[in-house]
Amino acid sequence: MDWSPADRSPGAHYHFLTSAVAPRPIAWVTTVDGEGRANCAPFSYFQGVGSDPPMLMLSISDRPERAGGGPKDTLRNIQETGEFVVHVATAQHAQQVVDSAAPFPPDVDELEAVGLETVPSHVVRPPRLADSPVAMECRLVETHRFGQRVPVTVVFGEVVHFHADDAVLDKRGNVRAGAGPDAVRFLARLGGHRYAAVDETFEVGPGSVGS
Ligand SMILES: Cc1cc2nc3c(=O)[nH]c(=O)nc-3n(C[C@H](O)[C@H](O)[C@H](O)COP(=O)(O)O)c2cc1C
Repeated sequence: MDWSPADRSPGAHYHFLTSAVAPRPIAWVTTVDGEGRANCAPFSYFQGVGSDPPMLMLSISDRPERAGGGPKDTLRNIQETGEFVVHVATAQHAQQVVDSAAPFPPDVDELEAVGLETVPSHVVRPPRLADSPVAMECRLVETHRFGQRVPVTVVFGEVVHFHADDAVLDKRGNVRAGAGPDAVRFLARLGGHRYAAVDETFEVGPGSVGS
């Protein structure tokens, strides 16, 4: 089957793209508003985009019109404070990751409702999730806005502090992936409500082609 973007609705593009651009890592993001109230939500349009300086990006759509439109709390908070913390989502936390995406009213403490404990971050105001094995404290670098019918804002942030549990680090100080107690069992998003856990990994070294 072949088709042009004009043949399908934005909703159909969302469902196809999120089933085809998969598996996606999930940024589990904490922010605070101008009064210091904490917020937490997952974003799977997420990637690392550079190493020097270390940079991450996430893409945040506006709320759908039927939910009143306008920016999601995470974007509003990032634009207000210039800070956010990206946590690695693990399969052990899958239900809490999904629960934290619920649209909570502004007066509800989302972290408490989802049962998430936090500890202070090192250099930014948003707190760090105590149970997440890897956290990256970020400062906003810039945003880029695309689209009209379903606008999205891509947020670029520089990592200003790294945190990782010693237990999941290999001898070089990098994160071990997999199912063991000394590794991060990464949670990845597929299409719809489907997720994958990184249980099995393998190495592929460089071959003998090229010079
Ligand atoms: C696993 C997962 C991944 C998600 N990824 C995105 C995403 O990349 N971009 C986005 O705008 N919303 C995404 N969402 C939806 C947001 O998490 C949801 O709209 C949330 O209510 C936003 O919260 P906030 O208003 O507190 O920022 C995702 C939801 C789930 C469960």
